[in-house]
Parts: sequence; C-alpha cells; structure tokens
Amino acid sequence: MKRQKLHFYDLHSTRDEFASDVISGLSRRPATIPPKYFYDARGSELFDAITRLPEYYLTRTEIKILYDNADDIARYIGSGSLLVEPGGGSCAKVRILLEGLKPQAYIPMDISKEHLHVATQELATLFPWLEIHATCTDYSREMRLPPTVPRGTRVAFFPGSSIGNFDPIQAIDFLKALTQLIGPESYLLIGIDLKKNRSVLESAYDDSAKVTAQFNLNLLSRINHEFSANFNLDLWQHRALYNEELGRIEMHLVSTCEQSITLNNTLFHFSRGETIHTENSYKYTDEEFIHLANEAGFQSEAIWSDPEKLFSVHLFRS
Ligand code: AVJ
Repeated sequence: MKRQKLHFYDLHSTRDEFASDVISGLSRRPATIPPKYFYDARGSELFDAITRLPEYYLTRTEIKILYDNADDIARYIGSGSLLVEPGGGSCAKVRILLEGLKPQAYIPMDISKEHLHVATQELATLFPWLEIHATCTDYSREMRLPPTVPRGTRVAFFPGSSIGNFDPIQAIDFLKALTQLIGPESYLLIGIDLKKNRSVLESAYDDSAKVTAQFNLNLLSRINHEFSANFNLDLWQHRALYNEELGRIEMHLVSTCEQSITLNNTLFHFSRGETIHTENSYKYTDEEFIHLANEAGFQSEAIWSDPEKLFSVHLFRS
C-alpha cells in the first residue's frame, strides 16, 4: 500500500479579518492597509511577474545564492531535518535545497490556500520521497505545527526578504515566535535584502513596465470585488520611495484628486495628495540583521552573499 505523503491542514479563515483591517486602516490618517492582503489570486500572479522583472534583483539573486551554496548549506544543517517555511506558498525556492538537504518532512505555511494547494501537489509529484504537511495559516498571527509532524532537527526557512515587511520591533517578535515554534538547537535560514544605492532600490519597486504599480493598485480592485467598494483605480497613483533614515522602501497609493469611497456603508474621504500606505520593505546590513536576530535569541552560523552584495542568506542557530 502506498503511504499518503501529502497532508493538508486548514487552520484559518481570513475574510472577516480582512474587512476589519481595511476599515480600521482606511479610518486612520495616514491610511494604511497591511501588505499581506496583496496576495489574492491576481496579486500572487502579479508578484510572480515582479520576481521576473529586470529591476527586481531580489529573487534571482537569492536563487543564485541558494544554488551556488546548496551543498554548503546542507553540510551545516545535515539530513533528516524538518523544514518549516512560513509563507512558503509557491514552494519554489525550497526545491533548490531539497536534493542536498534531504529533509524528512517539509511544512509550508501560507495564507493563500489555493496557491498552497496547487504548489504542494506539484511538489509532491516532483519529490515523491518527501513528506509534506501543508498548513493554511496567517503566519503573522499564529504559527502552529500540524499535529502529526515527525521528530528531527527543525529548520525554519524564510527566504525572499519577507522579514522586511515587519518593522524591526515586529521582526524581533516574529523571530521570537519562530524560536518558540522550532525550539532550541534548531536552525533559521533567512534571506535579507541589503542596504544599497537609492536608485537601485527605488527602481526595484517602481519598474518601467509598471508591474509593481499594478500590484499595488490591485489591492484596491480586491477591496472593490470583495466588499463592493467603489475605488476608481484611475484616481490613484503608485508611489515607491526609499526612506533612508528608517532603512525601508515605502509603497503608497496616492489620491490624485479629492474623492470619497464607500465601503460597507461607510464613507471614507481622501483629499488630493493623501495616501494609503500599503507596504514597508526594510533593508539591512549583515551586521544590523545579525544584531536584530541576536535580540531574538539566534546566533549567527554563516552568511552567503552575491559578489555585488545585493542580497544575503543567513544561517542562524537557536
Ligand atoms: C515579498 C515582501 C519580499 O518587499 O520586496 C515586491 C514584496 N512589494 N515588490 C518585497 C514586494 C513590491 C516583497 N516581499
């Protein structure tokens, strides 16, 4: 009898939370909407397109770092681990590590159920020896391992500079929550976008094909569809800027005129030039990030980077 290797757990339902986050976010000035809501089906598609843009160096640089150092990474960690990936919805980068790392089980956690479903089915076909426990959950709120995971060295894999969406205080809290999840004597393998020249950073978030602009504006379409709101996308403009003092890229949607939006019987007023802050993407130096991870109880084991020092992958021990 063939043993079932792909397990799927749904720990989450998000619609009500989306509604209350949007309403409280739009009531604030400046208005804000959390970036996790970018990723509906269309948003995930647009993000995939972003990762292939010439200006968006992050994904391809990290993938190259992982490829070039997969053996080295596997030597540090050893085989038979439990590989946990918060936000691992597309299961793409982990493929680079699987052959070398030979983990006992892979546990992707993602807010986007459909995306996770499709990706894990494909992964199960490509790696028939791998036990997969896919878990639909919002990792920024709760991380729980599914009830049936086996024993083994736990490794948290958090690529893509996703940690950059948290401000430094939240990032420390998130890393502390990760240490709770994986316990002592475990590893964290994490991707960090490095501080660099403003123009390189700003073009990565404001590309000439305007894909990032569509990605940002799609948030308003999503709100229109899911809550029959009436955002007119022609009256909003994408803006990305590097806030050097805070070390972060900020993305905003700028109201190009005086306007009102109706959502769930509530009226929101925006004057011309007023913005909705939709994302922060923090950039670090290696030293800054090690310092931050130390605050959460992690010790630096190794750093891999590209020759231009655009991006780095850190290995920590808890
Ligand atoms: C998925 C959060 C890593 O900050 O670079 C890309 C998201 N936003 N372009 C990033 C994003 C606009 C991305 N992260």
